Amino acid sequence: MTLFAKRQWLKMVALSAVSLATLTACGQKEEVSSSSPSPAPEPAPAQAADPAQPLQVGFMYVSPIGDGGWTYQHEQARQAVQQKFGDKIATSFVESVPEGPDAERVLRDMAGQGKKLVFATSFGFQEYVQKAAADLPDVKFEHATGYKRGDNVAVYDSKTFEGAYLAGIVAGAMSKTNVVGVVASVPIPEVVRNINSFVLGAQSVNPAITGKVVWVNEWFSPPKEAEAANSLINGGVDVLYQNTNSPAVLKTAQERGAFAFGKDGDMSAHAPQAHLGSAVINWEPYYTQVIEQTLAGQWQSGDFWWGVKEGAMDLVKVPDSVPAEIRSKVETVKAGLKDGSFAVWTGPISNNQGQELLADGVVADDAFLRGINFYVQGVEGKVPGTP
Ligand code: GUN
Repeated sequence: MTLFAKRQWLKMVALSAVSLATLTACGQKEEVSSSSPSPAPEPAPAQAADPAQPLQVGFMYVSPIGDGGWTYQHEQARQAVQQKFGDKIATSFVESVPEGPDAERVLRDMAGQGKKLVFATSFGFQEYVQKAAADLPDVKFEHATGYKRGDNVAVYDSKTFEGAYLAGIVAGAMSKTNVVGVVASVPIPEVVRNINSFVLGAQSVNPAITGKVVWVNEWFSPPKEAEAANSLINGGVDVLYQNTNSPAVLKTAQERGAFAFGKDGDMSAHAPQAHLGSAVINWEPYYTQVIEQTLAGQWQSGDFWWGVKEGAMDLVKVPDSVPAEIRSKVETVKAGLKDGSFAVWTGPISNNQGQELLADGVVADDAFLRGINFYVQGVEGKVPGTP
């Protein structure tokens, strides 16, 4: 499905919501939806919450809702909570907001329009959330994947590394060259952790696996994502993973006769021959909880990191062409993640210089996981910015 077709489809399934769209000066698109008609989003001074009015909730996205991955999936969750809470909430979003000063402007605009709860859904929004939140104490901010909290700022994330490990299990079994590759976005611990987790999963079924990485330094750039995928394939990679937002890697894999995975959203329809599964994030359980708490006047700042166990992460649509024992291993690992008997980052794990960083049987704690800035054994090269 083309991005355009996907957007049309998204619009068609836009629940019973009333939607209106305006184009802002810098080309970002703003959508407002509510199960009852709501006023156009004209800037107005922030006011105290009125229980008779719907809770105004804003979502700020870094890429288009039709990206098929990260933002698409946030948007799916927004639509789901709008439907679930009906007249109690009125949600809207602004898409394609760059991770720069424009983000702060959008956040302040949202507050001016009366939003009392705002989800900022990309890592690079962090400083702008901090600045806006300091001046807007009666607005609750939720920042996805950041680490800076405040009285009115909570952070939340999904354990995307669990999905990467599950995909790695499939990759390790399907690779013929024994070289897997990752198209990486922005060099932060989350992305390095995902690269490593993918390779660890692959090595768990095929110890001969090595990994290559190409960084594109952006979350969403289909041309760069495709170029990176091509260069990995040219270098001998036959199964690809990605930490970028679009299906370009998957589509390139199909054009080149390689395999790849969808990430964040179900990307299977974009390249069915190449698709070996999609590591899908479900933001709905978290958004539901936060909105429930906010409606009850019980919002509080926290640090949430949900994964397979909480229903926030899954590897879906692994095709039957993958050997049955591998599909069954994927299910066993999922069950272990659910009941807590399995942790992806369990030693022995060494960096690619041969230094053991987690001893045999030791399970990494969150502080370790959040600071990962090295490649595991078998991954070529070094993490950008490290000696
Ligand atoms: N913004 C767009 N995509 C992503 C992602 O995968 N992770 C984070 N942290 N921010 C994003």
